[in-house]
Amino acid sequence: MSVLAKSGLPALAARHKLTCVVRTHLHDAAPIGRTRPLTPSGIIGKVQDSRKGYILARYPTVRRLLLAWLRVVAYFRVNAYGGVAQLLWWTTLPMTAVERGHWRDWMRASLSLHERMLRRPELWRVLFGLGWVELLVAPLMPLVALVDVARVLYKRRAGLQSLRVRPRDTFSYPEYYLHDFHHQPNGGLSLRSALAYDWQVRFLFAGTERLMRQAVVDALPRGDSLAVLDLGCGTAAWLTQARALGRNHRYTGVDLSPEYLRVARICRRGGTFLQANAEELPAAWDGRFDVVVAIWLFHELPSAAIHRIIREAARVLRPGGKFVFLDAKQRVDHAAYDPRIPANFMDYFAEPYFAGWVELDLEAALRDAGLSLERRKRVHHSVLLTGRKASAG
Ligand SMILES: C[S@@+](CC[C@H](N)C(=O)[O-])C[C@H]1O[C@@H](n2cnc3c(N)ncnc32)[C@H](O)[C@@H]1O
Repeated sequence: MSVLAKSGLPALAARHKLTCVVRTHLHDAAPIGRTRPLTPSGIIGKVQDSRKGYILARYPTVRRLLLAWLRVVAYFRVNAYGGVAQLLWWTTLPMTAVERGHWRDWMRASLSLHERMLRRPELWRVLFGLGWVELLVAPLMPLVALVDVARVLYKRRAGLQSLRVRPRDTFSYPEYYLHDFHHQPNGGLSLRSALAYDWQVRFLFAGTERLMRQAVVDALPRGDSLAVLDLGCGTAAWLTQARALGRNHRYTGVDLSPEYLRVARICRRGGTFLQANAEELPAAWDGRFDVVVAIWLFHELPSAAIHRIIREAARVLRPGGKFVFLDAKQRVDHAAYDPRIPANFMDYFAEPYFAGWVELDLEAALRDAGLSLERRKRVHHSVLLTGRKASAG
């Protein structure tokens, strides 16, 4: 029997409900671990049988070691090339103390997300899976990155904000779209950009993009064969995730870029992909969809376009339908927002509308469109919002 139990202190504490006092003293006497609820009766149970007490007292250390190991495995397995390349990139760049702090936060958030995902066995396939197109273009990615860096240096030296983007078809593209987003030749209108996109997102988010998109899959309403519309679908990467988890809905993706749509048609079977401006969806789509989704679309658009798109989303939703979108966090989502972020986005990723996006009042935009806000939730570097169209009657 331990000295502590003999002292009668836990029993005394139990009588007077003095859990905190006991916890402070017991921490010095036996390492019971802070994560377990500590009640006097629990403590007595642990220390009464000395052999059992010895193992239990050390259990938190074993658990901590196991979790640390899981973190390391998760990080290097899940992040695949993205995480390792980013780790090399960031550790070789000269960083200020503030930037180093941001980077550490980023890594910590990423690790905890991976850990949470790995506790869901059904998601392992999603986390480790790579499409054949991704595997084919992987060897080219270092070359693509070198060309991009050369373009950024050229633009900086010439004092240019944007390089010309020339559409090769007669589609009526909005003016804001004709910008070389992500410093890519011909912006979103090149096949090179569409092929590189999934790897670039993986690199940027160090592998956590799948974890963030998972929040959208999890937010889909229960039910089979829902009619789902994806605005600014790009290569529609999240569709692979949804399908891997058995969410076999009737899926329609729209995007402005014919090249992203080409890659989406090759990679994601079972969806319909159409070239359309999400600001002007077909008139015949009134009330047609159960769910409308938009992933990382809005931060690339001017505020007026975002308002128009949310109104269109509300129009094409059936009464009671759900709008789910995921995008970069806004100023309101940060306890202390780093004011350099919008400028950095323009500089590093050629995203001219990011500054407007972080200030936009989304809740008001949803209200104006006739949608009620259901949920706002931070997911790593993004924010997930869900809205609902009022039911008929
Ligand atoms: C950052 S990407 C996001 C792609 C994809 N949703 C994902 O999960 O990665 C933004 C996409 O929105 C498309 N886009 C931009 N403005 C659009 C508009 N007005 N209508 C439809 N698509 C648009 C771009 O071509 C691009 O493919």
